[in-house]
Amino acid sequence: MANQYEAEVIIGLEDIAVIELKSLQNMDLPSIEIIRAGFIRFIFTGKAQDLLKLRSVIAIYSIHNFDIPRPKAILGHQNFTHLINLINDQLQTWNNPTTTFGIGAAGSSSSVFERIKHELSQTLDLNIAEDGKGELFLRFIRHKNQQGWQVLIRLSQRPLSTRPWRIQNIPGALNATVAYAMTQLANVNCKNHIVNICSGTGTILIEQSHSDFEHKLIALDNDHLMLESATTNIRAGGNDKLITQVLGDAQQTPFKSGQFDVIYADLPFGHHIGSHDTNEWLYPAILSESARIAKDNAVFVAITHEINLFDQSVTISDWTITQTRQINLSGLHPQIFVLERN
Ligand SMILES: C[S@@+](CC[C@H](N)C(=O)[O-])C[C@H]1O[C@@H](n2cnc3c(N)ncnc32)[C@H](O)[C@@H]1O
Repeated sequence: MANQYEAEVIIGLEDIAVIELKSLQNMDLPSIEIIRAGFIRFIFTGKAQDLLKLRSVIAIYSIHNFDIPRPKAILGHQNFTHLINLINDQLQTWNNPTTTFGIGAAGSSSSVFERIKHELSQTLDLNIAEDGKGELFLRFIRHKNQQGWQVLIRLSQRPLSTRPWRIQNIPGALNATVAYAMTQLANVNCKNHIVNICSGTGTILIEQSHSDFEHKLIALDNDHLMLESATTNIRAGGNDKLITQVLGDAQQTPFKSGQFDVIYADLPFGHHIGSHDTNEWLYPAILSESARIAKDNAVFVAITHEINLFDQSVTISDWTITQTRQINLSGLHPQIFVLERN
């Protein structure tokens, strides 16, 4: 089996993925390399199944070298048989039947790749996925340093960021790998009191509840339908005893002053939820109320697309920005802010 792998990660969160990769046993630490924005390669000698537990990556691929001058040569008997064997090995690791597949490559809609897709579809008895990816997803990449091509096979039927606990999915729900990254940026310890304002369907606190520590976590949102959706997800996440949900306004919460060490917020940003006009007064009000309920030196990790507005609102608040990072989320570019209470 291959022991060279590629992790696809959210652009802007590569360093967080590297830290998680380094924490795995059987990881060849010197081999870890960010080869370009959003992609990390490494050698791992443990069970491939262990890589599926990673929470900071979108997908993991095994890498297979083919000594061929151009993709068409993959259809030669020996190479094609080898590829089919590799794919069948992968399919056997999945419990659910696979019905669709896709190919990612520069020129993936060219006649050559159409032919490759056709042959794979016939041989594997799989349909070509309408979304271009499907359950079995292969990528063809020209080998960078040597001659030949590499075929990358995704190790999971769905992206790892599609968590099994996400039963209720609403437009505007946060990508779970981003939520995981936010929990890492907060640098939480076991004694921390943690609240998530504007908690929506519960993504951030479900990710937090899967950390090493058992915190009592509080989620607050002003929309009871959101809280209902979150209840379903939180139950599916298995840690419902740790998370208490509160219906309330983030501008005027029911919490005591100086109560929390860590505050999270995925703020309404006027795309699916809220509007820019509302946010002009909402953001300063939320920052002010968060400062009230925060302990001294508390950390506030927030994400928003309204970068300028949030930035300006912080300057007139009791918070100081200690870190920012812009990420690329399927073409959207929200920013994560890490703030410290003045
Ligand atoms: C971007 S969504 C959060 C999505 C969430 N992270 C998730 O993964 O489902 C913003 C949330 O803020 C909530 N919200 C908007 N204004 C609020 C306010 N004044 N007080 C509390 N929650 C508010 C909305 O109901 C919505 O659930």
